[in-house]
Amino acid sequence: MHRDIMAQIFFVPAVVSCHTGGGHLVMQADTCIGDMDMKIVVIGGTGLIGRPLVGLLRAEGHEVVAASPSTGIDALTGAGLAQALTDAAVVVDVSNAPSFEDAAALAFFRGTTTNLLKAARDAEVRHVIALSGVGTDRLQASGYFRAKLAQEQLISAGGTPYTIIRATQFFEFLSTIADGYTRDDTVYLPGIALQPVAAADVSALLAEIVKAAPACGIIEVAGPERAPLAEFTASWLGARDDPRQISVTAEHDYFGAPADDRSLVPDENSRIAPTRFDEWLAAQTQESAA
Ligand SMILES: NC(=O)c1ccc[n+]([C@@H]2O[C@H](COP(=O)([O-])OP(=O)(O)OC[C@H]3O[C@@H](n4cnc5c(N)ncnc54)[C@H](OP(=O)(O)O)[C@@H]3O)[C@@H](O)[C@H]2O)c1
Repeated sequence: MHRDIMAQIFFVPAVVSCHTGGGHLVMQADTCIGDMDMKIVVIGGTGLIGRPLVGLLRAEGHEVVAASPSTGIDALTGAGLAQALTDAAVVVDVSNAPSFEDAAALAFFRGTTTNLLKAARDAEVRHVIALSGVGTDRLQASGYFRAKLAQEQLISAGGTPYTIIRATQFFEFLSTIADGYTRDDTVYLPGIALQPVAAADVSALLAEIVKAAPACGIIEVAGPERAPLAEFTASWLGARDDPRQISVTAEHDYFGAPADDRSLVPDENSRIAPTRFDEWLAAQTQESAA
């Protein structure tokens, strides 16, 4: 199912050249591409993206550390981080802030990323990969997206070859969006476009990026369909027999940040993940019926 996406991202140049804050790094491909068993640390390895990513990489025979406070590794306090990264070839950061409040989110992404990059340099990690959001640069009126941009900027200047994956909203996030815009029994949604993606497809893409050379830049990923946010939300509510009504409002914002049809959708050259929304919805419905 993920062959198309793999073919799109799996490029293997002979030499990787990276401009980072640590200077101009040049590496031979065979020193940085992991088709052999590697030690990989997944920060946020117990989350929505992290858990399946850890499973995919373990199934391929890699040594994988699922790092999170619940496994005793805290990227914010630094507890257990240096030990976890010892001998690691690749680190993937798919953690998320426990609070989306402006100051808390900024403190989380600045703090965790600073600690992670220091530990990665000390351990001579060859590739740092982080998950961010499509439109991060266009949604800077939002404190959460300012925090994500700060994370991206720290990584690109952090001295370790890197790849930033910007994903669109996960299908799974539609429930949070619906709840966030609900007053009484109505979901008041902005009339903006969305191109959401299955979380499982994002985990699969990250598993491939782990084995590829660092892009030293940003790769965007989105689902195969673009439609109004209200359309996706209506399908989601309908599949769950959720009685809430939808009302499309004149205000165009995404969680408080001014937004339009361009804000949340990717550039033309983004990776397009395979799973369609209706396929995902049908699988969810089957799962909850079982
Ligand atoms: N939601 C979307 O639609 C969307 C779209 C694009 C990009 N993203 C990005 O995707 C990333 C992952 O989001 P998600 O929804 O998959 O997250 P999630 O399911 O909420 O998982 C968060 C993970 O972060 C871990 N974590 C929390 N505090 C930590 C700390 N101090 N040190 C290390 N790990 C910590 C959690 O560990 P515990 O289990 O121990 O608490 C958990 O494993 C985020 O960075 C987000 O910006 C999300």
